[in-house]
Amino acid sequence: MTVSSAPGKVYLFGEHAVVYGEPAVPCAIERRATVTVERRDDDHVRVRASDLSLNGFTVEYAGSTDDRPDVDVPAPLVEAAMGYIDAAVEQARDAADAPGVGFDITVESEIPLGAGLGSSAAVTVAGIDAATRALGAPLSAEAVADRAYRAESMVQDGQASRADTFCSAVGGAVRIEGDDCRAIETPNLPFVVGFDGGAGDTGELVAGVRALKSEYGFADDTVTAIGDIVRTGERLLDPEVDTDADTLVELGRLMDFNHGLLEALGVSSRSLDSMVWAAREAGAHGAKLTGAGGGGCIVALDPTPETLTALRFTPGCDEAFRAELATDGVRRLE
Ligand code: PMV
Repeated sequence: MTVSSAPGKVYLFGEHAVVYGEPAVPCAIERRATVTVERRDDDHVRVRASDLSLNGFTVEYAGSTDDRPDVDVPAPLVEAAMGYIDAAVEQARDAADAPGVGFDITVESEIPLGAGLGSSAAVTVAGIDAATRALGAPLSAEAVADRAYRAESMVQDGQASRADTFCSAVGGAVRIEGDDCRAIETPNLPFVVGFDGGAGDTGELVAGVRALKSEYGFADDTVTAIGDIVRTGERLLDPEVDTDADTLVELGRLMDFNHGLLEALGVSSRSLDSMVWAAREAGAHGAKLTGAGGGGCIVALDPTPETLTALRFTPGCDEAFRAELATDGVRRLE
C-alpha cells in the first residue's frame, strides 16, 4: 500500500490569463488531498472517496469511468472527480509501463471540489505519486507535475495550464509562464480564504473567457493587463527586496485590481463579490476570487483577525479559514 498527499492552492495573481501564456503566481496551502493506492490482481479500479465532495460518495467501477457510479451527489461533481482519478490512473500505468494494471484507491480530501482551491490537481498529483510508487516506478515531484498536467489537460479538453498541478506537486509559491514553471520565494503572506459553499465549472468558465477574448479586443487587453499585474506584483516578492507592511499593502492593492479585471471577464459571482467586499471593509489589504471563479473561494490578505471574523458573518460565506503556505508539495506518507 502507498499513501501520498498533495496540497491545494490559492492564486495570489494570474488565473485565467495564465491559460493564454501570461504569468501567474499560485501558492500551495495546508489543505490536502490524500490518496491511498493498493495494487489489485485484476484490471479493475475501485475508488472510495468518502469526502471528495461535501456530501460524500463511494463508488466502484471496472476498468474505466464509463461505468457511471450511482450516487447521490450532483452528477457533474462526480463525473469531474472520477475523470481526474481515471486520468491519473492512466498516467501512472503509462509512466510505469504497466497497462491494464488494477488498483484499489481511497481518496480523502480537505479541499472542496471545484471551489478554486485546486482540488482536482491535488487529487491527481497525489494519485499519480501513490500509484507509480505502488507499481515500483516512483517519479520526481517535477515528473509527477508533468504527468498530472497531462491528466488535467485530458479531462479539461486541453484547456489547462501547468499552474495548479506544478504548485501542488512542488509546494510553496510558484511562478508559471507557459511551460516555464519555477518555485519562488515569498514573504509570509497572511492568507484568509472565504468559501461560499458552491463550485464553478472550470471548463465552462475558461471557454467563456476565450469567447470574450476573441469577440472583443478590450477583453484581450484585460487578459494582458492581468499579466501586467503579475509582473508588477512579482517584483514585490523578490527576496532581495525588503518586505515590510507597505509591501503587503501594495500586494493587496494589486489583488484588488486583479479581482476587478476577473470580474470584467465575467468569472466572478454575487457571492464572491460580496465576500471580497466584506474582506475589504474589514480592513484586508486586498481580496480577490481564486481559481476559475463562478462560485467557490476568495482569498484575502490580512494579518489581523478582522477579515476572518467579518467573513464568518457575511451572508453567502459558508466557511472561512486562515490558509498557511504549504512548503511541502507532494508528501509520501507510506
Ligand atoms: O478553479 P481551479 O482551481 O480549477 O483553477 C483554474 C485556474 C484557471 O487559470 C482558470 C485554469 C487553469 O488551468 O489555469
